[in-house]
Amino acid sequence: MDRERTFIAIKPDGVKRGLIGKVITRFEEKGYKIIAMKMLTPTKEIAAKHYEEHYGKPFYDGLVKYITSGPIVAMVVEGVNVVKGARHIMGVTQPDEADVGSIRADFGQIMKQNIVHGSDSVESAQREISIYFTPEEMNTGWKTVAEMLIDEE
Ligand code: RTP
Ligand code: MG
Repeated sequence: MDRERTFIAIKPDGVKRGLIGKVITRFEEKGYKIIAMKMLTPTKEIAAKHYEEHYGKPFYDGLVKYITSGPIVAMVVEGVNVVKGARHIMGVTQPDEADVGSIRADFGQIMKQNIVHGSDSVESAQREISIYFTPEEMNTGWKTVAEMLIDEE
């Protein structure tokens, strides 16, 4: 079983709409473990690092403007295959194509305001986590109930 870490962020629209609790609940109820969390308003520099893969694309400037427009809630989340699993809980990028039950389908209407970000690979997760958090900010050395049960397998 591959225990992984991923980077999740509740985007400015999710924060402004009062969905912080609901989004976090989806990940907690799955049994994933939140080991770091903070609220911040990304600077242009942070946004540029975060979305460097999209530099030069037509939607890049709008994306940076949007992600710097208000506070986000940044998290490091651990779990078995959590990179893929978290993306599944989030739903695909376009909210009206996302599966019902996913965060983006249930709460979003337009692609830019799709509530939540999640890393798309283990490598992206490592890179993104290091943009927002230091190693000292990881709260390790404790177990969730889900983790204890998985350990018994
Ligand atoms: P995210 O990185 O935010 O988790 O979203 P994602 O992986 O589902 O999508 P990605 O391709 O990484 O795009 C990042 C964000 O940019 C906006 N976007 N706009 N064609 C467009 O206008 C377009 N494509 C992407 C979306 O808000 C997407 O979440
Ligand atoms: Mg992405």
